[in-house]
Amino acid sequence: MSLKGKRILVGITGGIAAYKIASFIRLLKKQGAEVRCMMTPASSDFITPLTVATLSENPVGLEFYDARTGQWTNHVEWALWADAMIFAPVTANSLAKMAHGFSDNFLLATFLSAKCPVFIAPAMDLDMYAHPSTKRNLAQLEADGAFIIPAESGELASGLTGEGRMAEPETLLAVLEDHFGSDESYKGKKLLITAGPTYEAIDPVRFIGNHSSGKMGFELAKAALQKGAEVVLISGPSALELSHPNLQLIRIQSAQQLLEIVQKHWSKADIGIFAAAVADYRPADVAEQKIKKSEDELTIRLVKNPDVLAWAAANKQADQQVIGFALETNNGVANASEKLERKQLDAIVLNEMNEPGVGFGGNTNRVQLIRKDNKITRFELQSKAETARALLEALIVK
Ligand code: PMT
Repeated sequence: MSLKGKRILVGITGGIAAYKIASFIRLLKKQGAEVRCMMTPASSDFITPLTVATLSENPVGLEFYDARTGQWTNHVEWALWADAMIFAPVTANSLAKMAHGFSDNFLLATFLSAKCPVFIAPAMDLDMYAHPSTKRNLAQLEADGAFIIPAESGELASGLTGEGRMAEPETLLAVLEDHFGSDESYKGKKLLITAGPTYEAIDPVRFIGNHSSGKMGFELAKAALQKGAEVVLISGPSALELSHPNLQLIRIQSAQQLLEIVQKHWSKADIGIFAAAVADYRPADVAEQKIKKSEDELTIRLVKNPDVLAWAAANKQADQQVIGFALETNNGVANASEKLERKQLDAIVLNEMNEPGVGFGGNTNRVQLIRKDNKITRFELQSKAETARALLEALIVK
């Protein structure tokens, strides 16, 4: 979908990836977007305002007060002008300021005045990106309603290799195109999505759990919301946050609680996507007090948990679709197909944990969509956000 006529305000902060913004502006202009840019003082060490102004064909927002012309640049007017703001690259410093409402430069004041969707593409070195304060700031901005375009993995300016590279200009463009272009494809649809792990209590302080972060399920919810759906997202314990007028986010702990909430909401859903990593077993008895370290061995008897996905499939109406997930370490297609058949699903999404960047925790995934007629669609290794969008696009054409 074209960005023709859309007014895109690009915010550039002072990181090495700022040089890539030149090609991003060109891509936007090629799509017919109107582009204005604003820059923090530090960013002009990496790309000149003249380059940015020339490519965007507009003056650049640098300061509140332009000493040359004696004019005040009105950040509120700039914010209201935009159909979308995209901040790229965003350094750890600017990210922290944005998360905490600082406004000590023109770019930050304009961000605080935004009335339009805001996209944030962080870029920084490995350890800075992994630091808990950066994670907290990203989570805060996401909870405030910003769309985060996660940093990618690769070679970093420091010479280290890992997560922290700004998403490529083509990815930034695709995110904006998706936002403006495909909002309607799920309009009127109600989605029930499960995400994250379940925690099965052993005693008041211990549990059986797994490494699911919730990212895959949250990205599915985000993509569905962007495409106009109403979403009930039921998540096990996860640090992720999401807020949207069309979203109901319900937090649970255990498989039993997940089942109860799914049972409450399932009849109203058109599509169920079950991305949660549900514990297959739970302790038969939950100790009332913390178990003491008295014996050399401890045996915990486990009993089977209810299968939430199987319950939804067994209780589905003809016009409802049930999509499962399968996390496999071997014989992926065969095992996933067996689950699809046994649980009577419409489709199953297979992720195979036999290569880096797939499955639990990280920001990327490689999946295969297996339908009940055994037709398989294979997707490339890509961010979980892109995976979610690609899956929803494949699923809407039944
Ligand atoms: O959260 P992330 O860190 O982003 O990781 C994403 C993910 C790897 C967790 C996700 O992509 C995924 O694969 N989720 C399903 C993992 C899993 O539990 O697979 P499974 O093969 O054990 O279960 C098959 C299906 O049955 C799943 O849809 C699961 O939600 C469902 N199930 C399983 C057991 C059970 N008691 N109830 C269920 O509903």
